[in-house]
Amino acid sequence: MNLRPAVEADLEALARVHRAAFEPGWDAEEIADLGSGPGAFALIVEADGPIGMILCRAIAGEAEILTLAVDPAARRGGVGAALVEAAAGLARAAGAGEMFLEVGLDNPGAIALYERAGFVRAGLRKAYYERAGGARVDALVMRRDLNTEGESPYSS
Ligand SMILES: CC(C)(COP(=O)(O)OP(=O)(O)OC[C@H]1O[C@@H](n2cnc3c(N)ncnc32)[C@H](O)[C@@H]1OP(=O)(O)O)[C@@H](O)C(=O)NCCC(=O)NCCS
Repeated sequence: MNLRPAVEADLEALARVHRAAFEPGWDAEEIADLGSGPGAFALIVEADGPIGMILCRAIAGEAEILTLAVDPAARRGGVGAALVEAAAGLARAAGAGEMFLEVGLDNPGAIALYERAGFVRAGLRKAYYERAGGARVDALVMRRDLNTEGESPYSS
């Protein structure tokens, strides 16, 4: 698995992975907008082509996972967990003491990944996401303390 920081030339590849994972996914311009904000960084995983991406922000001692996506054909191989661990390490190095994310309550696979990665449930945003067909779904806010070493079974 080749996991590395994404650069501007990767924008189309990041968008391709995102669109394969989300409906609707983000296009390159949307990813560029978010990725150029203060403290933003993106990581990409490649095999034959791009198969995983994460976009984060680390600013003023706090980090946030803005999105995480793995190509459906590459799932359950540890790519998502590796991206989260790498992002947590970079956020910690950038001075963040905690990391947050929002995830739909209708996404038990992602919630399981984050819990295994040391995130705990920190709140609920009612009717936060709108799904296809207009259904509203609550978002779980999750938090990980980046100062507690060894909290995640993925970290070594
Ligand atoms: C969520 C997502 C990123 C996981 O990526 P992945 O590369 O398959 O995750 P990993 O292989 O690293 O999984 C690590 C662990 O998380 C848990 N997990 C991951 N996906 C799971 C699923 N669908 N069901 C149950 N547990 C799951 C498991 O504990 C897994 O370990 P195991 O395979 O040894 O059982 C991927 O399914 C995806 O892109 N989904 C669509 C987009 C999305 O939901 N993004 C996150 C929301 S913000």
